[in-house]
Amino acid sequence: MQSTPNLDQFIPEELTRIAYQGFQESKKAFGFLHKQISDRLTNTIVPEQATKSKPLSPEVFEKLQVRLKSLEEKDWQDAQNGVYPSSLLFDNPWSDFFRYYPELCLDMVKIWDRLQKKEFQKFDNAIDRTGYPDYYLQNFHYQTDGYLSDMSANLYDLQVEILFNGAADAMRRRILAPLKQGLQAFASLPPQQIKVLDIACGTGRTLRMIRGTLPQVALFGTDLSPAYLRKANQVLSEIPGELPQLLQTNAESLPYQDNYFHGLTSVFLFHELPASARQAVINEAFRVLQPGGVLAICDSIQATDSPDFQEMMNNFPSIFHEPYYRHYTTDSLEERLRQAGFINLQVENHFVSKYWTAYKPVV
Ligand SMILES: C[S@@+](CC[C@H](N)C(=O)[O-])C[C@H]1O[C@@H](n2cnc3c(N)ncnc32)[C@H](O)[C@@H]1O
Repeated sequence: MQSTPNLDQFIPEELTRIAYQGFQESKKAFGFLHKQISDRLTNTIVPEQATKSKPLSPEVFEKLQVRLKSLEEKDWQDAQNGVYPSSLLFDNPWSDFFRYYPELCLDMVKIWDRLQKKEFQKFDNAIDRTGYPDYYLQNFHYQTDGYLSDMSANLYDLQVEILFNGAADAMRRRILAPLKQGLQAFASLPPQQIKVLDIACGTGRTLRMIRGTLPQVALFGTDLSPAYLRKANQVLSEIPGELPQLLQTNAESLPYQDNYFHGLTSVFLFHELPASARQAVINEAFRVLQPGGVLAICDSIQATDSPDFQEMMNNFPSIFHEPYYRHYTTDSLEERLRQAGFINLQVENHFVSKYWTAYKPVV
């Protein structure tokens, strides 16, 4: 089986660092240009919307920049230390970005229209909405058709990178070290027998990172959105290694046997769930994980982590239509993990994300 090449074999360390900084800056420049375009369009076409969005204070902006730099430094260090190959640092769907950018701008017109009519659960009539939990049928991020159309799936990665100032993948990669570390418990097994599931895998960005890091493990991904899974299938078939098994299912009831997986990950899911669903997903994660197995979660920072960013957290749910976010920011996932039976909890913050690592006890 081919593995992802490690650029460090060919390129000196300092050059990789400079290249990585340049790469991150190019993603930020993309986001900056978009902000200029989007602000001008908003000011001209819907000035009443423009006045609603408050800019960050210079102090908060400065603190965010410091945290972003620190995240990028950790990302680069992890690659240098061999947690993942340096080539992962440069993985970005540029062709999709350029291909779908005009669509993203055109979509803004539809978003303004829905914003003015306060329509936050609007779907095209052709979209089959049966079988989904009510909480899911939302235009999260004001996204046209929520998570239920191919166009939404095509725009998603671009929108998320713009939202996070080019740091979305760097934030996702923070789960790789704890996952890899946790899987050490199963080092005696042939790697092909180690099973890792990414819960709510979306368009497959995290699976792509895990594949680059652990080229031989058996990978699985689940999500409720058929459109996002189609996109994930396309994105993951572009890289070396066996294609992950992707399954459309609610994370609250996973169709796997007890104790099936050695490692579980989940990125940016919990803030989009109501409280009871958060607990149900954690309980399911516990059930399908092997004793000794590891769960690594990445999601938004919470109120107690960063009082400096409280105003930003308060504004986020209304700017991006995130109906469960406010409750999420005060919810204790640590409590929920312990309640499910997880032990050895570790919690970290990086940039605007929070990470929980937890283990299922060995009986
Ligand atoms: C913000 S996106 C995150 C996607 C991906 N993990 C990432 O890193 O970009 C949230 C994802 O969770 C999925 N999702 C939301 N509720 C779900 C549920 N109850 N069961 C399974 N997937 C769910 C959505 O379809 C969407 O793909």
